Amino acid sequence: MMRLIFLGLPGAGKGTQSERISKIFNIPQISTGDILRENVKKGTEIGKKAKSYMDEGKLVPDSIIIDMIKERLSANDCSEGYILDGFPRNIDQAKALETFSKIDKVIFIDVPTDVLIERLTGRRTCRKCKAVYHIKYNPPKNPDVCDLCGGELFQRDDDKVEVVQKRIDTYNSKTKPLIDYYKKKNILIIIDGNRNIDEITTDIEKKVKGN
Ligand code: AP5
Repeated sequence: MMRLIFLGLPGAGKGTQSERISKIFNIPQISTGDILRENVKKGTEIGKKAKSYMDEGKLVPDSIIIDMIKERLSANDCSEGYILDGFPRNIDQAKALETFSKIDKVIFIDVPTDVLIERLTGRRTCRKCKAVYHIKYNPPKNPDVCDLCGGELFQRDDDKVEVVQKRIDTYNSKTKPLIDYYKKKNILIIIDGNRNIDEITTDIEKKVKGN
């Protein structure tokens, strides 16, 4: 059983690394950001409620997020474990999670704030399979086309510079306290996220296995 949380600033590489680690260990990657964006696209009740918070770089209310995750973790594909990418995002979400799931390890991807703007403004995401690229650091073979599924690549609405700054502020005030929270529980693994993508994956794999 492997129940992991990926923590880090916006653009730290949570999505990139959790997608890779998910394949290595054959456990699902559960991204609250992806689930919310899917809901916004489909115009569901959740999507309608979440959109304004996301556009402003704020956290979507806990009441929406916690039920969403609880339901997702009850699915069959989570029976051997999962990677939570973007949840929990504050102490209340972490406490709520403990009422319905145990957590084995928390991977904190540590990057300096000054590399984030370039990472986020150069990010491209696949509309179909949600794979993440970067125009400079992880480019697709053909511009605007996903290598994995041929889907169209797009730029996220919240990757504009003004919104990125707000997301960083939200992280610092709400999410950062989780680092200490999980350190005290002795399940925190700190990963240097300011290296190339492959090196980071190898390091996470090794540390998750306990080497
Ligand atoms: P979410 O989608 O989770 O966004 P985020 O946390 O801001 O994280 P990102 O997806 O922007 O970054 P990442 O760390 O995954 O980086 P990535 O791998 O893509 O959340 C969006 C919004 O939804 C929130 O603002 C909030 O409103 C809401 N929300 C979500 N969860 C919530 C919750 N639990 N509670 C309340 N609200 C919630 O990498 C970024 C770029 O860098 C890519 O282009 C990538 O190719 C590149 N890159 C990655 N690693 C490297 C590297 N080592 N070197 C060079 N480039 C790299």
